[in-house]
Amino acid sequence: MTCNILVGGGWGDEGKGKCITYLCYQDKPEIIARAGVGPNAGHSVEFNGEKYGLRMIPSGFVHTGARLLIGAGVLVDPRVFHHELDYLNKYKVKGRTFADYRCAIIEEEHKEQDKGSDHLYKKIGSTGTGCGPANRDRALRTIKLAGDIESMEGYTADVPLEVNTALDEGRDVFIEGSQGFGLSLYYGTYPFVTSKDTTASSAAADIGVGPTRIDDVIVVFKSYITRVGEGPFPSEITQDAAEEMDIEEYGTVTGRRRRVGLFDMDLARESCMINGATQIALTCVDRLYPSCERVTEYSDLSGEVKKFVQEIQDETKVPVTIISTGPDLTDTIDLRDELM
Ligand code: GTP
Ligand code: IMP
Ligand code: MG
Repeated sequence: MTCNILVGGGWGDEGKGKCITYLCYQDKPEIIARAGVGPNAGHSVEFNGEKYGLRMIPSGFVHTGARLLIGAGVLVDPRVFHHELDYLNKYKVKGRTFADYRCAIIEEEHKEQDKGSDHLYKKIGSTGTGCGPANRDRALRTIKLAGDIESMEGYTADVPLEVNTALDEGRDVFIEGSQGFGLSLYYGTYPFVTSKDTTASSAAADIGVGPTRIDDVIVVFKSYITRVGEGPFPSEITQDAAEEMDIEEYGTVTGRRRRVGLFDMDLARESCMINGATQIALTCVDRLYPSCERVTEYSDLSGEVKKFVQEIQDETKVPVTIISTGPDLTDTIDLRDELM
């Protein structure tokens, strides 16, 4: 029985979608549960030559034997939820995807308020998906819950009961976080953050699993950093420099160009500390070091890449167990066995 959590170590978009898909496809947990803020996230999954962009349904959907659950802490936009159920029809997600009946519901007015707010949309650079106003209404205790609305009928469950029962019976659970450490309402670059804490402890609370039941906390870092929206970014480089290095990026949800920076060891150390990281997944090493594109064996990495990995381990005192060398599931170096 294992219960692992994966979270982002930067400002989101670290490649969590890819890592989640890989780990779930390999380890085949019985339950994959989505934590985090809500549909402001955009996870990318590349599988069997197809690319999927997801905002609500757990990225582990490619493991067709798993139940896909959304924890009570996550905001649900029923339109996005139903759209993704149809979109992922091929993976038979209907009948195995459920949101906790206590999930708070994003309504049209929340999106309008988000997009219409100078503070949220212009100053903070929010995604405009209604998450901030919805979490405000949740704190005010005026928001509707999934169990109260017609469009979620037949799609709700008691997520903590399912998850804790599965663990009691010796089955595996995987909890996927969204956003990233730097966007945490508590520990990020306030006020340029999202509307909630984004660390592993909150991910566990989102699902209704106590901290004593968690085995591993996997923190994902990209080999460089990206940030969308406003706010401090100590290791930021110019767009010209990013283009020269060929590491420019555009957002999955908003299509906005992402700000780019170099790997930040101070951020990595703090992120590992507050998340209680036991493992690091390092993504997009191929974009920084093209020679390692699609490499699947550690021994085939160049000395330069090995040095980079070693430095991260030395500084954070956390082992790098997953090295991602391309967007596809198969572009992965898995070092978890070496930990045993
Ligand atoms: P958020 O929940 O929004 O933070 O999303 P995310 O962490 O899943 O990241 P997102 O999918 O928004 O962005 C990561 C991008 O990098 C996607 O286009 C992925 O397909 C891609 N990607 C992930 N890992 C790798 C990798 O190792 N190499 C390359 N070249 N691309 C990768
Ligand atoms: P909000 O969560 O939409 O209110 O946006 C607040 C800040 O968090 C903005 O800077 C967004 O760009 C950022 N943000 C929220 N979710 C994500 C994500 O999944 N990836 C990257 N940035 C995000
Ligand atoms: Mg994203």
